[in-house]
Amino acid sequence: MALLPPLDTIAPDLVAAGDYQRYALQRLDANALAYLQGGAADELTCQANLNVWQDWALLPRLLRDLRGGHTRCQLLGDTLQHPILLAPVAYQQLFHPQGERASALAAGVMGGGAVLSSYASTRLEDVAEVASGPLWFQLYWQGDGPRTLALAERAEAAGYKALVLTVDAPVAGIRNREQRAGFALPAGISAVNIDAPPQLPLVPAGGSAVFDGLLALAPHWADVAWLCQHSRLPILLKGILHPQDAQLAMQAGAAGVIVSNHGGRVLDSQLPAVKMLPAIRQALGPEALLLVDGGIRRGTDVLKAIALGADAVLIGRPYIHALATAGALGVAHLLKLLREELEVAMALCGCRTLADISPELLRRAGAEL
Ligand code: LAC
Repeated sequence: MALLPPLDTIAPDLVAAGDYQRYALQRLDANALAYLQGGAADELTCQANLNVWQDWALLPRLLRDLRGGHTRCQLLGDTLQHPILLAPVAYQQLFHPQGERASALAAGVMGGGAVLSSYASTRLEDVAEVASGPLWFQLYWQGDGPRTLALAERAEAAGYKALVLTVDAPVAGIRNREQRAGFALPAGISAVNIDAPPQLPLVPAGGSAVFDGLLALAPHWADVAWLCQHSRLPILLKGILHPQDAQLAMQAGAAGVIVSNHGGRVLDSQLPAVKMLPAIRQALGPEALLLVDGGIRRGTDVLKAIALGADAVLIGRPYIHALATAGALGVAHLLKLLREELEVAMALCGCRTLADISPELLRRAGAEL
């Protein structure tokens, strides 16, 4: 898996991220598709994440000298060739036998970064071995500080550069699509990096499985501060939507924030993350590290996210569609397509670098100028 064949050996009708979804829908079984495509409840947030980009229209600037332009960005001391990271997605061997290793390989080959899920189906060390670009490790709180730190330190020892603590899912979302499909992990696929999941307390008779069960193991702000103090790796908090939570994250010692609604998979009817981005950028100031995810399918979406305040973006389902279709080659090709779309959008909007992408390029679609 060290080298990828030329990326244009992929089928000629794979020319945009959405095309990979078409292929993935044909290739994956109903069980894997229920997990991948599904979200919480009525999936209103999944849909809103996709539609929200149409709320802004581009207002290009012309005739500037754009020679020497590029899509490079600096994140936590690493230079990436483009600002499109692979979001943490669990159990990737559900979608391709090479799972997380194929995704990490592709991210590195394309000069970008990837975030490995706590619920990866591949050992985190084995993923690190094939990654040539920066890897971050997504953490779920493991019931207490020391257990969480132990997992974080294992990732650090394997070469991961940052931690992404997901804070928007202390309780699993209600995923009706998965329930209706009877989703279950097939034999041989599991969260192999979690040795012994934390023991849930016994819920007293008449008690609540949510409040007396899962939430007994959920972290609070003080736990986040403790982890930030004890971890040598920078920590980003993922799943933030409220500007005040973004401020609390930074006060707790976070290195940055990922504005996200978890791909619409946890709480339905949430706002698309990008809607809150300007207010969060405003609250944190120009220097804070700010990423966003949710519904990004086009280079113009990436450009809009950056114009609204993001330093970089993450994609989830689209790269899993590419993984399911063509393994590492598919993921690399998808990244190439998105990066080229971003380059073209930047060029046509008069932006030489990501720093040139400003809110001035956007107007509310349909609004009077
Ligand atoms: C999910 C969890 C694993 O979204 O984060 O499926």
